[in-house]
Amino acid sequence: MIEDLESILVTEQELRERVEVLGSEIRETYADVDEITVIAIINGALLFTADLIRQIDMPVRIDCMRVSSYRNDIDPVQEPEIIDMLRLDLEGQHVLIIDDILDTGHTCLRVINEIKRLKPASVRFAALLEKEARREVDVKPDFIGFNIPDQFVVGYGLDFAERYRQLPCIGVLRPELQNPPSWI
Ligand code: IMP
Ligand code: MG
Repeated sequence: MIEDLESILVTEQELRERVEVLGSEIRETYADVDEITVIAIINGALLFTADLIRQIDMPVRIDCMRVSSYRNDIDPVQEPEIIDMLRLDLEGQHVLIIDDILDTGHTCLRVINEIKRLKPASVRFAALLEKEARREVDVKPDFIGFNIPDQFVVGYGLDFAERYRQLPCIGVLRPELQNPPSWI
């Protein structure tokens, strides 16, 4: 499957090293807190979350949220839709939202606003990747793994039409493998 990539932007080893550092940064940020609640935005954040939580040396509760901001295509729909809500009670809890990539920022903003309504003690946001050039709304992530150029990437949780999530690295999908924009 690696052959389907035009180029590799982040290698498996770079991912491992960065995730370890992020884990310690998060641990330090929550030094005075007994427990945090991690909310993974699935499916994209699956792999990142699995690796990251193993680097956070403190009690962690986990829940997932499913947000749809993409169709079977690389163009985002404007307003992200929450299609599966949380099971845990977040009132008074320290919440860390984890996503795969911060792109336009619409998903991040929508999820943060939704979580805030549940009266948590604090809300922070971590994304493995960020495409700063694409930001459309004013959101400030607390933890970012890598800043990448404005290219469509797959691997380590990120997909194209639900495929390539299992790649151990992050890379740019060869253009001829991306369906034409009319294919939705
Ligand atoms: P935003 O709402 O525009 O910030 O988009 C965030 C979501 O879009 C992410 O959680 C991803 O699911 C998806 N996304 C954005 N860029 C990419 C990409 O390059 N590859 C795969 N998914 C992406
Ligand atoms: Mg996603």
